[in-house]
Amino acid sequence: MCGITGYIGKTNGLPFIIQGLKRLEYRGYDSAGISYIENSKIKTYKKKGTIHILEKNIPGNINSTALIGHTRWATHGEPSDNNSHPHNDCNNNLSIVHNGVIENYSILKAKLLEEGHKFTSDTDSEILAHLIEKCYDNDLLSAVRESLRYLEGPYGLVILSAKEPDKIIAVRNGSPLVLGIGEDAMYVASDVNALAAYTRNVIYLEDRELAVLTANSYRTYHFESGEIQKTIDKIDWDLVEMEKKGFKDFMEKEIFEQPESIGKTMKGRILKEFATSKLDGLNMRTSELEQIKEIHFVACGTSLHAAMIGAMWLENYVRIPCRCEIASEFRYRNPVVRADTLYFAISQSGETKDTIGAMQEIKIKGGKVYGICNVAGSTIARLSDGGVYLHAGPEIAVASTKAFTSQLAVLALFTLLIGRSRNLSPSVGMQWISEFEALSSNMDKILAQMDHIKSIAQKAKNYKNFLFLGRGLHYPIALEGALKLKEITYIHAEGYSAAELKHGPISLLDKDMPVMFIIPKDELYDKVFSNLQEVKARTCKVFCIATEGDTRVKEMADDVIYIPESREMFTPFLTVVPLQLLAYYVAKLLGKPVDQPRHLAKSVTVE
Ligand code: G6P
Repeated sequence: MCGITGYIGKTNGLPFIIQGLKRLEYRGYDSAGISYIENSKIKTYKKKGTIHILEKNIPGNINSTALIGHTRWATHGEPSDNNSHPHNDCNNNLSIVHNGVIENYSILKAKLLEEGHKFTSDTDSEILAHLIEKCYDNDLLSAVRESLRYLEGPYGLVILSAKEPDKIIAVRNGSPLVLGIGEDAMYVASDVNALAAYTRNVIYLEDRELAVLTANSYRTYHFESGEIQKTIDKIDWDLVEMEKKGFKDFMEKEIFEQPESIGKTMKGRILKEFATSKLDGLNMRTSELEQIKEIHFVACGTSLHAAMIGAMWLENYVRIPCRCEIASEFRYRNPVVRADTLYFAISQSGETKDTIGAMQEIKIKGGKVYGICNVAGSTIARLSDGGVYLHAGPEIAVASTKAFTSQLAVLALFTLLIGRSRNLSPSVGMQWISEFEALSSNMDKILAQMDHIKSIAQKAKNYKNFLFLGRGLHYPIALEGALKLKEITYIHAEGYSAAELKHGPISLLDKDMPVMFIIPKDELYDKVFSNLQEVKARTCKVFCIATEGDTRVKEMADDVIYIPESREMFTPFLTVVPLQLLAYYVAKLLGKPVDQPRHLAKSVTVE
């Protein structure tokens, strides 16, 4: 969702602006643009479509030391050249890029129109350029600060001015921005991925903070309290993790990386000697763990599905009542927040607006909220009272895969930790640890079946609809399987509890409605098997994910993908992998842009 880059330095900043935007492509976008200063004038180029299209439309000889760039994900106004960013003021003296939504833009726009400002787009963002123009009196910083007083809604904003070409200003209120501190150059971007190739030293702006950057200085301010000192953080991961490493797509790489990424998530977190785990980032003493009466999870999308499984584990094995809620619903229903409830926000990106909103609601009501996220230094990580990083490495494909299994790993480790502080015996703890240790090789066994899964994808690709059914721990997996398929293949897919079949979806069943059953050998196996028979009797094609050696399922199903036998608790780590691969191969066969599916964004920074 909208990517921002900005540069001020002593040499040509165009390579950073373009490379940086490319590093942000994964966030999702529909148009791209740049502005820069040349001979004391602002030049702007912007195009609907890819960064590649933009590159073909800009002069080959740009050499500028002050530039801003943007990839847009349309909110107000369709994707078009005019609606693309940057947006400039009436006199082409300043140019802005914006991520977020100016909620009161129509009132502000009406006023600015009345005052004679000329608009060229349908966006909310353009008002920012005109508002700053209106407030400008030979001091860009004062004009920006004055303008901010009028704005409602979230924004990450970078401003370039031909009248003060030695600086750019970056403002954050609700949409992420990171500063990069270089040698004779300062950078700004929506996330660290854009900065990593240029500098390892970064400063995360918080909400209601802004920065004035020049080629060799930066000053940071709080909207209300004036100048502030910020700490410099280090980017600690390797750039090579952001490459495809020989895979065709990031999604393929990330699926196949799971045996390794899950290992990284668990590394150093298992204490065999005491048959438990340790999660240092939580900063919780055993006495605090003991006081927890309930656990609530808030999350969106794939992270929500991981949370649903975590909630089932904790309630079943540790007997703590758990609740799991869509973050966007939680934040607006005036929830009861209690001091003896542990709140977890789960997010790969750490920037999902609705999840942040839910965390803020918990905090306003006096609760403590802990984060489970992948991106270090992200908003959720910084807003959390404590938390656990996934350490899964950068996830670039929009459809989440390795982050999901790493989220499950953290939740299982937490279940072990809190379980051992209560009722869970050392022998059960040790059995779980053996399962943790077997996860990577079990995943390898599933990945090795890629040709078989490709052949199922050949059959699956011809359908317009798909039903995914599972029960218990595999109900969220059914939801996740359906989500993966619809995200990247655009085939309509629904996930249901298999037991709900007869309460509605059964009416959809015919030869054109294939059904994927997630039916490993577990407590509910026989019940799901009955559902399978009901479906088969209605002429549907039936695909199954089942446990190795299950011949009964083989007799009923058109195709089966087998997963290795494991303890019931650990099966979701395995059943999800074939569903990820199936979605991936169907999307490839249909020629879809797997890593960047239409309309979707990796980092959903608006409501
Ligand atoms: C978007 C992405 C999904 C992701 C969801 C939650 O919808 O396309 O893949 O699951 O956001 O993102 P988060 O970063 O909070 O896990």
